[in-house]
Amino acid sequence: MNKIGTKLIGTGSYLPELKLTNEMLESMVDTNDEWIQKRTGIAERRIAQNMATWELALEAGRRALEDAEISADTLDLIIVGTVTPDYFTPSVACMVQGKLGAVNAMAFDLSAACSGFVYCLEVADSFAKAGKAKNILIICAETLSRIVDYKDRSTCVIFGDGAGAAVLKASKEEDGILSTYMRADGRLGECLKVRALPVEDPLAEPRHAHEDRFLNMAGSEVFRFTAAAVPEAIDAVLERANMAAKRIDWFVLHQANVRILNMITTRYGLDPDRVYVNIDHFGNTSGASVPLCLDEMKKNGQLQPGQCIVVCGFGGGLTYGAAVIRI
Ligand code: UT7
Repeated sequence: MNKIGTKLIGTGSYLPELKLTNEMLESMVDTNDEWIQKRTGIAERRIAQNMATWELALEAGRRALEDAEISADTLDLIIVGTVTPDYFTPSVACMVQGKLGAVNAMAFDLSAACSGFVYCLEVADSFAKAGKAKNILIICAETLSRIVDYKDRSTCVIFGDGAGAAVLKASKEEDGILSTYMRADGRLGECLKVRALPVEDPLAEPRHAHEDRFLNMAGSEVFRFTAAAVPEAIDAVLERANMAAKRIDWFVLHQANVRILNMITTRYGLDPDRVYVNIDHFGNTSGASVPLCLDEMKKNGQLQPGQCIVVCGFGGGLTYGAAVIRI
């Protein structure tokens, strides 16, 4: 039987314990709580101390499997969205696959930065609808603190660590992921950059020291890109699902800046209570932010079966995308 739907059947998350507050940052760089709250909406973020990305991913994945009430050996596919992998190889997904005992699963990482969750959704949905995977675990996990320069006030006040996960299941009904729209604009890639390896002559001496390891962001340029890209993606998924914005119960957007969330609220004339916000306590966790929202919403009873939600990611690449999901 052909599968024509992909249902979201479980969520999970993991956050490291340490809370890095705005007050703590005031003693590290030339910044202040008022600027950070007003320009970003962030009050605190979590920081992973001596923890690997795979450890955060594993715990979020475990919790999502528990929530979905399925065992790891029934998984066919694990995708981890991350820009802070622990190794070039093995991938975070393979490490999680091994630790979970997901012996029947194919596993790989996907690099789409803050669009990681929606890109993972798109790939998972395609595998499910092609009949290539029935049970799929997607995880977005980041230890951004490892690539953030805590001397650079333009980035260190924004980013936080965390992992969020979702379990998807191929279904016979046309349900779950109702529409998707994914895009990239690589011409703007320089606006948000972290070097992996230096380009060098390997036979020349001495070899380069790997100094430019930190994330670099042209914040206002990314902000400008977002102002056009996010509505483009949301308009497209609403049209593809044949739905008006007023029929959507929740807008769950990447938590990059509360001003971006407010901009979307105004543009679509939404009740602000329908645009989920948790950037105040987790900061910008890249691809993890959307599944962190979904898991929090599920736990506090705000996400209910039958509801229709829009999820949207945007960021490094630059990449962007959205989906309409019936829960
Ligand atoms: O998640 C991936 C996608 N990323 C995004 O979507 C990020 C989009 N961009 C943003 O959210 C915002 O551009 C930022 C929050 C990064 C920056 O806010 P902004 O309103 O665009 O500030 P700005 O970079 O234009 O800087 C305004 C001023 C500057 O001072 P002058 O030149 O006007 O004197 C900055 O030096 O604010 C200064 N500034 C700060 N002041 C206190 C920059 N960072 C800080 C800081 N504390 N942490």
